[in-house]
Amino acid sequence: MARVPAIKAEGLRKVFPHPEGELEILKGIELTVWPGEKVAIVGPSGVGKTTLLQLLGGLDRPTEGRILHFGENILDLSDEALSAYRNRHLGFVFQFHYLLPEFDTLENVMLPGLLAGLPRPEIRRRAEDLLSRLGLSERLHHRINDLSGGERQRAAMARALLLEPRLVLADEPTGNLDAESAREVTEILLQLNQKYDTTLVVVTHNMELAARMDRILRLEAGKLKEVSFEKLVSLEA
Ligand SMILES: Nc1ncnc2c1ncn2[C@@H]1O[C@H](COP(=O)(O)OP(=O)(O)OP(=O)(O)O)[C@@H](O)[C@H]1O
Ligand SMILES: [Mg+2]
Repeated sequence: MARVPAIKAEGLRKVFPHPEGELEILKGIELTVWPGEKVAIVGPSGVGKTTLLQLLGGLDRPTEGRILHFGENILDLSDEALSAYRNRHLGFVFQFHYLLPEFDTLENVMLPGLLAGLPRPEIRRRAEDLLSRLGLSERLHHRINDLSGGERQRAAMARALLLEPRLVLADEPTGNLDAESAREVTEILLQLNQKYDTTLVVVTHNMELAARMDRILRLEAGKLKEVSFEKLVSLEA
């Protein structure tokens, strides 16, 4: 049987309206990511990395093009079906965390499990385990607003991974973190990939993280190009 890509994007364009004419951010993205693959997306600020990740994760719709996950066109799903699919099968780590301020750390991390209707004790065990690995055992009952930026980022990571999604899309997951926490986040992503064959697409400026991926794609002038790690280092220098 032919292998089906975890993600296939075809001819993706994204145009934003702008008073001085339209802004064409993505100009025809072609991307195939195989199940279990680890891909980094890099590129300068404002080039469209978050825009691309949001399209790939079905959080926004492209102006043109197709996006298939495991052979299914996610753009054919109703908004309701798409959000149920995202909750159950995608782990999205946002550049800005979007945790819910009215709940504490543990509740935020448990939320996808509760929405999916899994047994509460099991969800709680998994959430506490993830939070402990991310160094947040002492912060389970803190309000989100009482956490530091890096702590929020780690809580958001735990929430994204709670249901052991088959596909993780992470936008600067080490963005606000010190070197040690960044390494822990990197290790957790890699372990998830090894243990469950989770497909990873990670937007990052972090060279240590990029170096651990199978492929590095650079977004430039609205298109993706594969670059070697050596080439990336020379571009960043
Ligand atoms: N909803 C929107 N309406 C209009 N312009 C937008 C919108 N969203 C993003 N843009 C513009 O599209 C461009 C790409 O934004 P995006 O957030 O994807 O960049 P990025 O590569 O993630 O940057 P960074 O590395 O700083 O996070 C930016 O110039 C941004 O201003
Ligand atoms: Mg961004």
